[in-house]
Amino acid sequence: MSLPVRALGSGSNVILKRYLDGLIIHVGLLGRSVVDETADDVVVRIGAGENWHETVLWAHENGYYGLENLALIPGSVGASPIQNIGAYGAELSDVIERIEVVHSGSLTTRSLLPSDCQFAYRDSIFKTEKGRDWLITAVDMKLSKTPTLNLSYPALEVAISSSEKSPQALLRAVIAIRKAKLPDPAAQPNVGSYFKNPIVTREKADALGARYPNLPQYSARGGAVKLSAAWMIDHLGWRGKGGHGALVAKEHALVVINKSAKYASQIIEFADEIARSVEAEFGVALEREPQVLGSDTPV
Ligand code: EPU
Repeated sequence: MSLPVRALGSGSNVILKRYLDGLIIHVGLLGRSVVDETADDVVVRIGAGENWHETVLWAHENGYYGLENLALIPGSVGASPIQNIGAYGAELSDVIERIEVVHSGSLTTRSLLPSDCQFAYRDSIFKTEKGRDWLITAVDMKLSKTPTLNLSYPALEVAISSSEKSPQALLRAVIAIRKAKLPDPAAQPNVGSYFKNPIVTREKADALGARYPNLPQYSARGGAVKLSAAWMIDHLGWRGKGGHGALVAKEHALVVINKSAKYASQIIEFADEIARSVEAEFGVALEREPQVLGSDTPV
């Protein structure tokens, strides 16, 4: 019998429905090592089952720099390329060197290069039909042995005084900003940003900018414009509001917290209401960021 196979890391970015069809593999492969080194850089290989934040700390403490902006993102290393995790001006694809995978059907192994992975904003080949059957076993990242600081996110530049521009100060600042802005999933169940920031044409962005001058806009690939979903949701008064056993976090309008919902469908219904109100006001469709797994009825 051929079962559908899915890998699950620590489940921090999935919405789990009641029934899961097939075989779920929890990837527990551990190990962190240096597999290549020059005078300036190292390539580290991290087992897919390692915790992401602990890996950021491990790299930083060993003097391998470049992951500081991605501190405190919940989840496992093996899950990180699927969403191409990103925060505070950095994306995982900036440092990816290679991804080791095994095909869940044929058990063939492959080393994928970044050019094979179709990395984009919170997206990769692993979310597509073609890439879904490749299970990630290890991730190789190229990190710098000389301190490099990515201060492109404006609040970071402000948080770090010019006298202490160091990777240590950057790491501390990212952790402090995240703790202040994003509710801790261990204390208040959430999947981080529930929606992606929508990407629209320049014309659409200009029209919205004329009506909503405070709506943050960021340039995206190919001349397109990324809009702040949090701002639009906040503008419509959702921050701190609840429904269906869920709640929009008071700290950040993109975060939906599960207060008392028993089923994934309640969270999804609540978030759909938010998306409908954004569409009605701004004419912009919001896309869910986490993946939904399973179904409401037995299969
Ligand atoms: N804003 C509001 N109300 C809010 C929150 C934010 O109006 O409640 C506005 C503010 O103008 C703020 C702007 O939105 O300046 C942007 O907010 P923020 O810097 O927090 O970034 P974001 O675009 O909302 C993205 C990521 C986060 C990541 C931050 C920081 C997505 C979907 N989310 O959020 O990632 O931590 O940038 O880089 O791209 C995640 O993916 O789970 C996640 C938390």
